[in-house]
This record gives sequence, C-alpha cells and structure tokens, in this order.
Amino acid sequence: MATATPRSHSIVFAPRIQDLLARDEKVFRIDPGKVGVSDSRLMAEIVAARPVLSTERSVYKPAAGAEIPHDSATRTIRALGQDAMAGIRKPPPLVRGMAGSWPYAGTSYLRRWLFSADPLPVSLLSKRGVTRSDTLSRLVDRAVTRWPGSADQDGRQDGPQDRPQDGRPDGGTALAGLIRGAGDTLERKQAVAMYRRATATLCDGVAALTGNALWLMGPERDRPEHRADLTAVLWETLRLLPPAWMLYRNGGAAYTALHPEIRPEDDVALFPLLMHRHPDYWSDPLEFRPERWDGVADPEKAPAFMPFGFDGARCWAKHLVVPLAERLLTVALDSRLVVHSPRQEAQVPLRSLLSVRFEARVAGA
Ligand code: HEM
Repeated sequence: MATATPRSHSIVFAPRIQDLLARDEKVFRIDPGKVGVSDSRLMAEIVAARPVLSTERSVYKPAAGAEIPHDSATRTIRALGQDAMAGIRKPPPLVRGMAGSWPYAGTSYLRRWLFSADPLPVSLLSKRGVTRSDTLSRLVDRAVTRWPGSADQDGRQDGPQDRPQDGRPDGGTALAGLIRGAGDTLERKQAVAMYRRATATLCDGVAALTGNALWLMGPERDRPEHRADLTAVLWETLRLLPPAWMLYRNGGAAYTALHPEIRPEDDVALFPLLMHRHPDYWSDPLEFRPERWDGVADPEKAPAFMPFGFDGARCWAKHLVVPLAERLLTVALDSRLVVHSPRQEAQVPLRSLLSVRFEARVAGA
C-alpha cells in the first residue's frame, strides 16, 4: 500500500485508490471498458446528459421485482428525515457503544440511537449481525412482511394520510409506519427494502463521515478552534475524504459527444475524491484546513466540490447528513473518544464508501 499525507498523520489508501490518486490527467482510461473522469465541468455534463438509470440507483433501485414509485420514494425520505431529527433530539446511548472498530462502531451506535425504538421483528432489519448475512436478511424480510407490527387500536392499518409527523404513537419510527401502512404485499415488501436500505445508507454514510473527520482532526482535535466550528471540519472532511468518492454510470452512449476518450461501450467512473484534491481547483489541496470554509455561506456551491453529487442526481438526504454527523462528532468529542490505534498510517480499503479504519477508546474508561 502506498501513502498520502494529510497534515500530521498519514492515510494508507488501497492500491487501486492510490493508483487513481497518482493520475495527473483529468480524463483517463482505467481499463479497456472504463473511463475515469475528475474534470469538474465534464463531470457535471456527464451527470446532466441523462437521468440515472433505476439500476444505477442505490437506495431506490428496484425492489421485490418492481421499480420504486416516485411517491413511495418521497414518502421514504420524509419518514427518514422525521426519524433522524426525532432520534437526535433523544439523549444519546451510552458512549462506550462508540468504542471499538470504526466506522462499524459508529454505524451500530447510530442505529441504536435512531432506530432502536422499533419493536421486533422490524428492529432486526437494521441490525448489523443480520444485514451482513443475505440469508438472515431474507428471513427477517419475510418475517417483517408477515408481521409488520401492531395495527391501530381499532384494528385498522393506518394509511399514508394518517402517518404521524414525528415518530409513532407507539414510539416506533415513521419508516416502520410505512411498512405497517402498506396497501398490498408488493408495497409492503418494497417498504421493507426501503427501511433496510435507507437506515443502512444513513448510518453507514454518517459513521464514515464522522470517522473520517475524527481521523483528520488527529490528536489536535481538542484544540478550541476545532471545537468552535465542527461544521467546517465536516465540510473539509467531505472534501478530503468524501464517503461517496466515486459515482458510476453504465454505458457511454450518452457521453461520447462530450469527450473523445469515451466510447459507447465504456462505463464511466466519476471521481469527486480526485477532483477535491486537484491543485487546479484547490490551494494546498492535501492540507486539512477547515478554515478554508470560513465565511462560505453555501459550501455546495464551491467550484469543483461535489460530495453529494451534481444537479440532476443530487443526494436527497444531503440536508440530514451533515447535521447528524455534527451531532455524532460532538458526542464523541464531549465523551473524549480517542483514536487508540493506529497512531500513524490508518487504512482506507477499496469499498463503495470511503472510510478510514481505526480502533477507538473512551479516554479514562
Ligand atoms: C453520508 C451519506 C451520503 C452521502 C455522502 C451521499 C452522497 C450522494 C451522492 C454523491 C449522490 C450522487 C450519486 C450519483 O450521481 O451517482 C447521491 C445521490 C442520491 N442519494 Fe445520497 N448520500 C448519502 C446518504 C443518502 C441517504 C441516507 C439517502 C436516502 C435514504 C440518499 C439518497 C440519495 C438519492 C435518492 C440520490 C439520487 C440518486 C438516485 O436517484 O438514486 N443518500 N448521494
């Protein structure tokens, strides 16, 4: 593994990521069937050239053999927003739950914080021991589809119009309410898939972002200037270690007119990670400098900065991610969560979400 050095301690990227980081060109061939792009203008043009295919989506790819209807997608994101905001208003779980291997410890902690109100079997949908096994996941999906939880007192399953604005009267989440309120089996199966994907994407993504921030802040994390503006710390983390580091498009037919390297049979990989570190776009690009965001009213409008995608396919949950990560980071810092190992050279493996791996402990525990 090769190294790249932000500030005082280093990160060891998986070799294939490091190979990409070593590229000078902004449009390059990765292999005979794939072109990589880190040019800001071309990336925006590619995303605008055609809508994301349903099979290229992550949360809203087809489920139970059918496309996800738009109204059910918007209901899911509204419910997720309600649950996330209601969740972080509750006191956080015991902080020792954050100790252990990151980002997994962060993911489990968030799941407990935001989604543990749901009764069995729904709560199993987001349990890590279950989500890691396809067989267990299928069993739990079937159980929830069959026993989605209690109906209202008069025996009626509630419909969309009855859904509460903030959590459930029974203390469960609004996302679980969508499973209970489904009108037929297909809708229920899709609601189960949405619950699993939405909770996983949120908890995995926020834990990756928070863990990356903890690592980048390093031993200086308790310095007052860092505590003063954790929002800036998170935007700078989204620049240097964006969890969504690569966006993928299958087939180049819609893009051939945009660049001569792209052929109809090529897939196209867009790299916010490379764009965010390119010296043409950023001064001292490898330096972790949260101060660069001082006075920036809308970081997402910064040129060559796209941690949540581009117009045309921009993230539906972006308004949730930074506030949640800020809350998690605040709890971690207030409780003196420290990176125990490694002291140097943390690894960033090749995964769809970019996240630094380290062991954390609560100081003094
Ligand atoms: C740290 C967490 C997250 C990050 C960094 C992130 C980042 C992104 C990025 C970069 C894109 C553009 C993808 C592309 O153009 O191919 C995107 C799109 C999208 N994201 Fe997120 N996302 C996060 C969490 C979530 C969550 C929790 C949800 C919903 C449950 C969500 C729903 C979507 C949707 C619906 C799209 C539009 C693409 C589509 O139509 O499927 N994201 N996100």
